[in-house]
Amino acid sequence: MGPLATLLLALISVCSFTHAAAVDSFSIASHRDYADSNNLPRKRQSGSVPSELGKTLYWFANFSVGDADSVRLLIDTGSTDLLMNEGVYKPSKNQKPYKGHKNFTITYEGVSRGGFGFETLNGTTMTDTVSAGGLTVKHQAMGSLTDYKYYNTPPKPYAMQGDGIIGFAGARSSSFTPGANSWFWNLCKNKAISQCKLGLLFGTSGKGQTVLGKRATHHLKNPLTTVPDLENTYIVRGDITLNNHIVLRSQYLILDSGTDNIQAPLPAAHRLFSLLNLHPHTASGANPVHPHHPVRELTAFFPCSRPPVLGFSFPPHAELKPGQKARVFNVLPEAWGVYPHGEDNCTSILGGTNALDGLLGRGTGAWLVGQSFFQGHYVEFDLEGGTIGFGDLVDPGMEGCA
Ligand SMILES: *[C@@H]1O[C@H](CO)[C@@H](O)[C@H](O)[C@H]1NC(C)=O
Ligand SMILES: *[C@@H]1O[C@H](CO)[C@@H](O)[C@H](O)[C@H]1NC(C)=O
Ligand SMILES: *[C@@H]1O[C@H](CO)[C@@H](O)[C@H](O)[C@H]1NC(C)=O
Ligand SMILES: *[C@@H]1O[C@H](CO)[C@@H](O)[C@H](O)[C@H]1NC(C)=O
Repeated sequence: MGPLATLLLALISVCSFTHAAAVDSFSIASHRDYADSNNLPRKRQSGSVPSELGKTLYWFANFSVGDADSVRLLIDTGSTDLLMNEGVYKPSKNQKPYKGHKNFTITYEGVSRGGFGFETLNGTTMTDTVSAGGLTVKHQAMGSLTDYKYYNTPPKPYAMQGDGIIGFAGARSSSFTPGANSWFWNLCKNKAISQCKLGLLFGTSGKGQTVLGKRATHHLKNPLTTVPDLENTYIVRGDITLNNHIVLRSQYLILDSGTDNIQAPLPAAHRLFSLLNLHPHTASGANPVHPHHPVRELTAFFPCSRPPVLGFSFPPHAELKPGQKARVFNVLPEAWGVYPHGEDNCTSILGGTNALDGLLGRGTGAWLVGQSFFQGHYVEFDLEGGTIGFGDLVDPGMEGCA
């Protein structure tokens, strides 16, 4: 899921360098004192958290939050904040007020099982202890929900399956005032992990691992292909392929594990559906962020038995160095047939939306690349390296990862 209003703020600063070379130096921008900076766990380490795909097509893992041990949180690289559903949060003796506003409001895009829709949430802030995989942040900023509202989805709490959500992005996408670092960024800043790496190893079986602090090379079939992460916003550039041939060049891709499907800007989606001989359907709905610009979404139906061969090629052709070769990572066939309508008829996991238009500046469309792409691949977010890496999993199913 992407927090829309705050994503907008985060990405305005991206515009200033989208025309310059990618920034490869990096420092985590935080000079705040509400995380752990004064009591660093000195032994640097790594951890691995079993993760699984829920019926809602979101990935979950168990965390310990405050005094609750097995809290099931949605793993979201598209946002930053850790938010607990109403009534779930149990404060520990480490609980403290958040040094900032007591309330927050956030609007997410991509909240329905079909990948679209919006949700606005309100709640209260605090800090408490959050752990998983043996890794702990003692004073993690977090929120507890008091209120929510859905737009353009049936009135069911799709996005609030499980006990809440944990974001992995930086403070610029935080909905708290002032913006707070995510748990992962705090682990990195506190030097609680050996390497500032987050690996998502999501298998096509619905089982997987979330790996922090190291690269789990034994799960990698081949070395990672890395590309610059534009200012640590988890946005990269890549080419789009159909049947392993490039059909769209140098697209901006937001890597968002918390979105079910893959959403292209409308012109790109029209182009791809036309190349695939699929008849597109348009839907319109309310836009909670810009009420005067209704959201338009594009979908199409395909024969479930013959999924398209849609891929992302890295690095994009335009950025290849002499002698360097790009690699294509296709959405695996297993990820396609998740919205069936009976007789060999499925809704495409590739869709189009105008909801992200303008985020990266006028005329630059952005893709929301969700979990359907992650399945079967190793995706690594490397804060220090300022890169995102892509690889194939030794076992794309990750069957053995309970
Ligand atoms: C989380 O914990 C619950 C209860 O202990 C367990 O049933 C579930 O399988 C766990 N989920 C993951 C992803 O490990
Ligand atoms: C914060 O939210 C609570 C619950 O909705 C509300 O009662 C309270 O007035 C709000 N406080 C501020 C300062 O907005
Ligand atoms: C959240 O709070 C804002 C500001 O107080 C209010 O306008 C809005 O209606 C609330 N939204 C929900 C879903 O409760
Ligand atoms: C597939 O199912 C959708 C939704 O029920 C329907 O609108 C569409 O016409 C169907 N397509 C085919 C080829 O049957």
